[in-house]
Amino acid sequence: MSCPVQHGNAGTVTLDPYVANLRAEREILHAAGPVTRVELPDGVTAWAVTHHEAARAALTDPRLVKDVAHWDDYQQGRIPEAWPLMSTIPPTPTNLLGTDGAEHKRLRLLTAKAFSARSVERLRPRVHDLTVQLLDDLEAGADQPLDLKDAFAFKLPMSVIGELYGVDEAEYGYLREMYVKFFSAVTGPEEFLETYATLERYYEGMIAAKRANPGDDLTTELLNAGENGDALTDLEVRGTLQVVVAAGHETTVNLLCNAVRALLAHPEQFDLVKEGRVGWDTVVEETLRFDPPTSNMIFRFATEDVELGGRTIRKGRP
Ligand code: HEM
Repeated sequence: MSCPVQHGNAGTVTLDPYVANLRAEREILHAAGPVTRVELPDGVTAWAVTHHEAARAALTDPRLVKDVAHWDDYQQGRIPEAWPLMSTIPPTPTNLLGTDGAEHKRLRLLTAKAFSARSVERLRPRVHDLTVQLLDDLEAGADQPLDLKDAFAFKLPMSVIGELYGVDEAEYGYLREMYVKFFSAVTGPEEFLETYATLERYYEGMIAAKRANPGDDLTTELLNAGENGDALTDLEVRGTLQVVVAAGHETTVNLLCNAVRALLAHPEQFDLVKEGRVGWDTVVEETLRFDPPTSNMIFRFATEDVELGGRTIRKGRP
C-alpha cells in the first residue's frame, strides 16, 4: 500500500488522490494538528481540517462557503478543466453542494422535506421488504461465493432512492456504471467530462419525461414546487437530482460493504452483534468512524481571512 508522504515544504502533507491507505493518511493529518496545509494533485494546495472542534467551527462559519467562485486558484484558471478531484466541485452552483446561505436554504427546503424523520420513518416498511427480498435472493445462491456489492449493497440504496425520485428500474445499472466512472479517481480527464455531460443529458431527459408524464415521485414534486410560490428552474432540479441520486446510493453502498468487511475481519466484534450485546445502530456509527464511505468532504472557500485551529486561512483559500 502506498502511504501519504510529508512534503518538503514545512508542515505540508501530500494527499494521495487514490486514497490507497486512508487510515495512515488520517493518522498523519490528525497528528499534524487541527488544521494542516495539504498538497493535492497538480500541486494545488488547500487546508485540511481534521479535529472535531475545528471542523465544527469551520462548518458553521458563514465566511467559509461552498461557492467555487470564491476559490482564488479557480478564478485565476490554475485548476485544470479535468482535475482529478473535479467530482468534488459542483461545476454549476445550482445544487446543494455548491450553494450557501439563502440560496442553499431555498434549494434545501424542498429536498429536506422528503428526508424529515417522519418521511424517512414512512419508508421503513418498503426498505424492510426490499432488504428481505435481497437477502432471500442471496440465500438462494448461498453455496457460491458472491459479490456483496453487486448482489446487495448497490441494489438496496439504489432501489430506495430510485423509487423515491421515480427513476426507471431498468436504468439502475446504467446509472451505477456512470457514477462509478464519475467518482473514480482513475477515470481519465476526457472520460470524466464525457460522463458528467452524459449524466446531465440523462437528467434532462428524465425531467422532460416527468413533465410529459407526471408521477407520484419526488422529481415530479420538485417540478411542481412552483405552485407553492418557490419554483426551481430545470437547471436546479437537474442539480438536485444529481446530488440526491448520487449521494443517496454511493455513500450507502460503501457503508454497507465497509461494515460487512470490518465485521468479517473482526469476528469477536461480529459475535458481540450476533449475541445482541451491540446493536446494529452502533455498527453503523462505528463503521462511519472506523472506515467511512467518503474520505474527504466538500471544499469550503474563505471569503475573508479566517482564524481556525491556530492557523490563518487567507481569503480565497480552500
Ligand atoms: C452513509 C451514508 C452517507 C454519508 C457518509 C454521507 C456523507 C455526506 C457528506 C460528507 C456530505 C457533504 C456535507 C458538506 O460538506 O456540506 C453530504 C451531503 C449530502 N448528502 Fe449525504 N451521505 C450519506 C447518505 C446520504 C443519503 C442516503 C442521501 C439521500 C437520500 C444523502 C443526501 C445528501 C444531500 C442532499 C447532501 C447535501 C446536503 C446539503 O448541502 O444541504 N446522503 N453527505
